[in-house]
Amino acid sequence: MAKIALLGCGGFIGSHCLDAFLADPDIQVEGWDWSSAKIANHLGRPNFRFHAGDIYAQADLKERFAACDVVISLAAICNPSQYNTRGLDVIESNFIQARKIADLCAEAGRWLIQFSTSEVYGQTLAHWTGAGDTRPGLYEMDEEETPLLLGPISSQRWSYACAKQLLERYIYALHKEKGLEFTLVRPFNFLGPRMDFLPGREGEGLPRVLACFTAALLDRKPLPLVDGGLARRTFLAVEEAVQALARMLERPAAAKNRVFNLGNPANETTIRHLAESMREAAASVTGDRSYLTLPLESVSAVDFYGEGYADSDRRMPRIDRAKSLLGWEPRESLPGILRRTLEHAFSIHAPRSAPAART
Ligand code: NAD
Ligand code: UGA
Repeated sequence: MAKIALLGCGGFIGSHCLDAFLADPDIQVEGWDWSSAKIANHLGRPNFRFHAGDIYAQADLKERFAACDVVISLAAICNPSQYNTRGLDVIESNFIQARKIADLCAEAGRWLIQFSTSEVYGQTLAHWTGAGDTRPGLYEMDEEETPLLLGPISSQRWSYACAKQLLERYIYALHKEKGLEFTLVRPFNFLGPRMDFLPGREGEGLPRVLACFTAALLDRKPLPLVDGGLARRTFLAVEEAVQALARMLERPAAAKNRVFNLGNPANETTIRHLAESMREAAASVTGDRSYLTLPLESVSAVDFYGEGYADSDRRMPRIDRAKSLLGWEPRESLPGILRRTLEHAFSIHAPRSAPAART
């Protein structure tokens, strides 16, 4: 019987962790989140105990952690539209509060699996040399070899990456000086159902790109491409990411006291191509070819996100470590992930009808 403390269990990744963990009756989960909207199907399960509200307002966290085998921390503000507009809250959430969890795990003598981010790598070396050099060493991101290259302070975009990087360094120091057992996970753009919220339907504001494009498709609005959509990302199915996490729990000796990239290098694409692929997926899911002609509209980063936004040019993970130590390898292609994700969105939200054809 394994007992897991899961902080941020009501979010995108947390809800998929619950789907996987709670299916095993030998696993018990103690979860915390502000919101249970995405996990209503799990409330009341005998192997799940949910604590609603602010994690940091709970008085008995240390005792509860001590009663678990592992603490998995997902709780964070991790939406790029907030990095340059709510810098104080972003640093509070991703370092000042998150370090308290690390301290409690060290005091309770419990293994902490902390979710960090691919953003700690910052821009690629190729971005800084500006030479258009395509040698893999200049853009691939390796846990031990790649330097972490963030932009200037006035580029507030990097407030999140910097806070996460300091959290990583703090956890590493707790390991060296106080014996904390840790695993640091650096996710590279997970995708799947239940990511963020659909603006105008499930909330207000600016979510991450998948939800922005999904909402635009449902509402038949142009898909906004920030600065033309030239940035590149690699995308990993969230369900496969959770499988990697499950492998860590199965193989603690391999997982402990290491940093792991989790991503799918085979699924690299530009954001423009992501938009085109999502139009195709929407057309395929609905059988309505008019989605193929929805416009793609370039918008400037300043107009879209405001002053202080900067973009990651490219994020290409090396995943040899996860492959060899966890026996894990991602397989699902981007079109497959997008199709499943849009099937889910179109099954719960009515799309705006296509304009009548002119006669
Ligand atoms: P998410 O926003 O969907 O989930 C985070 C959850 O934490 C939310 O449900 C939120 O309500 C909860 N939370 C935050 N602060 C809280 C508090 N004080 N009290 C109670 N609940 C609180 O985000 P996600 O995509 O599931 O990401 C989870 C983690 O993984 C984050 O640490 C994020 O930085 C990291 N990450 C995710 C991705 C990705 O592709 N999704 C990529 C890189 C890093
Ligand atoms: C994200 C977030 O910072 C975190 O969730 C996470 O830590 C990180 O990825 C990661 O995987 O490590 P980012 O990929 O920049 O960062 O965020 P998205 O909102 O998904 O944007 C991806 C790209 O699409 C960016 O170039 C952005 O400018 C662009 N975009 C976004 C658009 O072109 N149109 C939109 O409507 C939204």
